Amino acid sequence: MHTEVCPVGAVDDELRSQLLTCWADVTNAGGSVGFVPPVTEADLAPYLDAVVERVHQGREVIALLRVDGEVAGFAVLSLSVSPLRRHWATVLRVQVRPERQGAGLGRALMTGVHAIARERGLEFLHLTVRGGTGLEAFYQGLGYREFGRMPGAIRVAPGDDREELHLTCRL
Ligand SMILES: CC(C)(COP(=O)(O)OP(=O)(O)OC[C@H]1O[C@@H](n2cnc3c(N)ncnc32)[C@H](O)[C@@H]1OP(=O)(O)O)[C@@H](O)C(=O)NCCC(=O)NCCS
Repeated sequence: MHTEVCPVGAVDDELRSQLLTCWADVTNAGGSVGFVPPVTEADLAPYLDAVVERVHQGREVIALLRVDGEVAGFAVLSLSVSPLRRHWATVLRVQVRPERQGAGLGRALMTGVHAIARERGLEFLHLTVRGGTGLEAFYQGLGYREFGRMPGAIRVAPGDDREELHLTCRL
């Protein structure tokens, strides 16, 4: 099995379609990647296209995970536009295709994200986790530590507000 994580600087139609399918499948399998199920690829398309636009502007980088050449997951590295915040970035949408989860690929994806971030000279990374998911354990195993929680930041449904955990990792 050949696993690779590459930074993507341009997204063509084929890759756009693969990313959309991945994001929808991961969401509908219960993943916390910005939406709640059920979603369709059409629901997510405007959000993915906005990411792609920022990628083409150099404001975001897609870290693409491939296994034997097939798209197995991705994450987005969001660079700050502020001149005072050029030494770190936020990681968003970390996801591995549902049928491939639990086999070490999430760790491989994040190791690749860290390598891409280091190559760009970044000193640390920031990310958020939806409260109640337990996902912080995944990131703690990768060197992240929690530094704060924002109560009620995520409204998964009317009357169901969740806190958001903020984590950071020095590179
Ligand atoms: C979270 C996710 C990226 C992890 O990828 P994965 O391939 O399943 O994880 P790995 O097999 O690489 O696991 C690495 C380690 O993290 C732990 N881990 C993985 N998912 C976990 C979870 N949901 N909760 C707690 N620990 C977890 C594993 O037990 C493993 O620990 P070990 O090294 O002690 O054995 C993947 O499950 C996923 O895409 N989930 C849905 C999307 C999502 O919710 N993303 C998080 C956004 S904040």
